[in-house]
Amino acid sequence: MSEFTIRPMRPGEWDEVSELVRISTNHWYESHARGAIFTGPPDATRLFCEVYEALDPGCCIVAQDGETGRLAGSCFYRQRETHVSLGIMNAHPYFFGRGAASQLLAFITDYADRQGLPIRLVSSAINMDSFSLYNRAGFVPRMAFQDMFIESPADDLAAGAGGADRVRQADDDDIPAMVALEDELVGIRREKDYRFFIENTMGIWHTLVFEGEGGELDGFLGSVAHPGSNLLGPGVMRDEPTAAALIAAQLDHHKGSAPVFLVPIQAAELVKTLYGWGARNCELHFAQIRGAYRRPTGIIMPTFMPETG
Ligand SMILES: CC(C)(COP(=O)(O)OP(=O)(O)OC[C@H]1O[C@@H](n2cnc3c(N)ncnc32)[C@H](O)[C@@H]1OP(=O)(O)O)[C@@H](O)C(=O)NCCC(=O)NCCS
Repeated sequence: MSEFTIRPMRPGEWDEVSELVRISTNHWYESHARGAIFTGPPDATRLFCEVYEALDPGCCIVAQDGETGRLAGSCFYRQRETHVSLGIMNAHPYFFGRGAASQLLAFITDYADRQGLPIRLVSSAINMDSFSLYNRAGFVPRMAFQDMFIESPADDLAAGAGGADRVRQADDDDIPAMVALEDELVGIRREKDYRFFIENTMGIWHTLVFEGEGGELDGFLGSVAHPGSNLLGPGVMRDEPTAAALIAAQLDHHKGSAPVFLVPIQAAELVKTLYGWGARNCELHFAQIRGAYRRPTGIIMPTFMPETG
């Protein structure tokens, strides 16, 4: 074990943390017979600092090596009404296995314990290093998701998916209903995140809602398009057809790229529909939760940036 100081990231350290996120993640995947995750320009992972610091300034923490002064690890977290969310955790490959991640995690679990809140995250089911890191610290895998993408979806998927006429772009007025729907189906609340996506000052988010017959909100699905993150989510929906309609509309919007999206493994009809559209699996993830948890109803589509769990 090395001696680390755990402290907030400083403003002058964004580039170092961005590089750490990129090198750490790509190194892990490339050394485990997978391709690199971050293939965009070297500064694309600066997006993590930009988004998390815009949302919750001061909530990126780093592990600084006492001997060399180098940053050995970083992690992002944010507190919401019902829980603490833990975003991407990284150790520099040079420091793998030396306790940087465990100490960063202990900082966040101590913080959440002081607030009396559970912590939620999404961890890879094929990465034993991160799975074990969280599992040993008391996180429990509660839900499993398959990561999917569609290389070349057909034109105008939404028209064939059904329900396209009920999908529209979200605006400020939808936020209370989005928050209430997630509270009802999942038992968590995070208004700040939804306000951030819909205000969209960075110009990279796209949020859609699905209106039921009576005008009530039956689902919503966000997405992000950036060289550092090309994903659908987060989203919650009352049922699988609503999820299919929202995914189709998002894929139409992202035509020409292949965003990754996480689908609950037990949503069999939805998964079948997605395979029919040409979807391929690229990974598996668990939602791991430390502390209070209520079994959700409906469909949940988590995402990695900002991480939702
Ligand atoms: C996952 C990652 C952050 C771990 O960082 P690290 O600093 O090497 O981890 P640590 O040295 O703190 O060790 C983590 C814990 O997992 C344990 N662990 C690791 N592999 C294990 C296994 N197969 N079974 C049981 N426990 C295991 C370690 O013993 C340690 O527990 P301890 O502190 O109670 O002894 C690092 O591998 C990494 O950056 N990977 C690439 C990026 C990534 O995958 N991030 C996670 C995305 S959320």
